[in-house]
Amino acid sequence: MGEFCKRLFASDLMPHGVCWAWEPWVVWSNVIPDAVIALSYFILSLTLLHLIRRRRELAFSWMVLLFGAFIFACGLTHALDVYNTWHGAFRLAGAVKALTAAASLGTALLLLRLTPKILLAPGLDQSLELARSLSAERIERSAAERRLQESRERLESEEADRALLQSQKLESMGLLAGGIAHDFNNLLGAILGNLGLAQMEINPMAPARQRLETIETLVVRASDLARQMLAYSGRGKFQLKTLNLNDLVREMTHLLGISISKKAVIRCGLDLALPAIEADPSQLQQVVMNLVINASEAIGERSGVITLGTHSAHLDAQDLARDYAGQKLVPGAFVCLEVADNGCGMAPEVMGRIFDPFFTTKFTGRGLGLAAIQGIVRGHGGGIRVQSEPGRGTTFRIIFPATSLAAEAGAPAQALAGYRGSGTVLVVDDEASIRAMAAGILGHIGFQALQAGDGLQALEQLRRHGPEICLVLMDLTMPNLDGEETYRAMRAEGFATPVILSSGFNEVEAVDRFIGQGLAGFLQKPYRAGDMLKLIRDVLA
Ligand SMILES: Nc1ncnc2c1ncn2[C@@H]1O[C@H](COP(=O)(O)OP(=O)(O)OP(=O)(O)O)[C@@H](O)[C@H]1O
Ligand SMILES: [Mg+2]
Repeated sequence: MGEFCKRLFASDLMPHGVCWAWEPWVVWSNVIPDAVIALSYFILSLTLLHLIRRRRELAFSWMVLLFGAFIFACGLTHALDVYNTWHGAFRLAGAVKALTAAASLGTALLLLRLTPKILLAPGLDQSLELARSLSAERIERSAAERRLQESRERLESEEADRALLQSQKLESMGLLAGGIAHDFNNLLGAILGNLGLAQMEINPMAPARQRLETIETLVVRASDLARQMLAYSGRGKFQLKTLNLNDLVREMTHLLGISISKKAVIRCGLDLALPAIEADPSQLQQVVMNLVINASEAIGERSGVITLGTHSAHLDAQDLARDYAGQKLVPGAFVCLEVADNGCGMAPEVMGRIFDPFFTTKFTGRGLGLAAIQGIVRGHGGGIRVQSEPGRGTTFRIIFPATSLAAEAGAPAQALAGYRGSGTVLVVDDEASIRAMAAGILGHIGFQALQAGDGLQALEQLRRHGPEICLVLMDLTMPNLDGEETYRAMRAEGFATPVILSSGFNEVEAVDRFIGQGLAGFLQKPYRAGDMLKLIRDVLA
């Protein structure tokens, strides 16, 4: 091997210069171009190598590499020609030429094979055009993304403004509705009481009896209106119970069947593993009733189906923000009530107003049903979602926070017929008409009734007739000393007489505070004679 290399690199043969007779012109006209060619070839091949290393993504890069090798080999043969002008290393020159020949033949064959592909590849112009359009597209996309982000932010802030406006509107309308309902309730209470009294006093055969019954129906309808307004004001939440929504829906199915159009059928899909909720049963009845009546009215004279469904769901902040935007809800477990109909549905402009009090599209509608539902649902920490399509139907989904407590069983109601009372009842109310009405009813069934216009007078009466008084029936909102203050003063002076509080407002917090201190009962105004007597009987039993 060493011998072979020695012979390969030996320059013992006759140099080119001898053949050219060392004629200077011939020598330099060969040597200079060979040197320039060799130098250029080296530069070319090294540049190609550098390019390929920096731009690995270029198409056909390995072909370019081969070109580089081939050009380098060519450069080497020219360099050896220069060397061999003065030396005779022709064995080495032959070996290098053989390598160059192999590289050039390989490169040529590969180039032939690649030519169709190269012809199909995009040209430089096309590549540049492609790059330009790609970069324009990227700029356009990022501008569109920016615009999208801006409009999303604008929408979010508009949504927040709308939600704030809506909640302010609800607050002020609620205040107004609550105030009117309160005074209205007082008036209706006095009317109902006096009516009850008149019904007791009148001869059963008198023709006016019929008229009194009609008046009672009308007053009950008016108090229903006041109840809706009170519910809308969000102050109608009282007497919370742990209950199962399924039981309530089942109990109401019979009642609902009577209230809806003959053409509509009710279908129930109740989830039997439903957790309980803390709610006021009578208010929930109002919610279900209003929704089902609306559904029936949307079905109208055609045949249709109303589906009542319940299920439970765990909703996180994202779900709530998506489906119940603008409603103050705490993420967690919820019980859902769904009332769906395949009635007339609603156009978007109607949908936007359905919760406004007094908004109605019906000839005889009052537009209070959904407003009341909204107040009740808000009062229970729940949310409402409506989906509707004109001609297709509507789905109302109402969610209430679930509780881990078990539902209470309902107590059976006892009949009041034939109840007679004895003893003295102190009636405390700043409304003279209500005092007179309550005293009249009490007197009619055998109680003695004492009256007081405010808390101070009540204490006075207690001091005077203390031991005789078996019960105090007292209004919560009064001038001078209100119900709560009077109650405390009574207990402070040592009177243990049972107290029933009454109010036109839902004074849930005040009443809750009292319950721990032995409050005997609470009577929501306006009350019928029967409701009052039933509570008194239960308290004194
Ligand atoms: N299920 C429903 N399908 C189609 N429209 C409905 C549905 N529920 C409510 N609406 C629309 O919402 C409006 C308001 O309903 P809301 O219950 O508050 O009032 P109302 O039914 O018109 O009157 P009322 O006070 O007697 O209930 C309705 O007039 C009706 O246009
Ligand atoms: Mg309605």
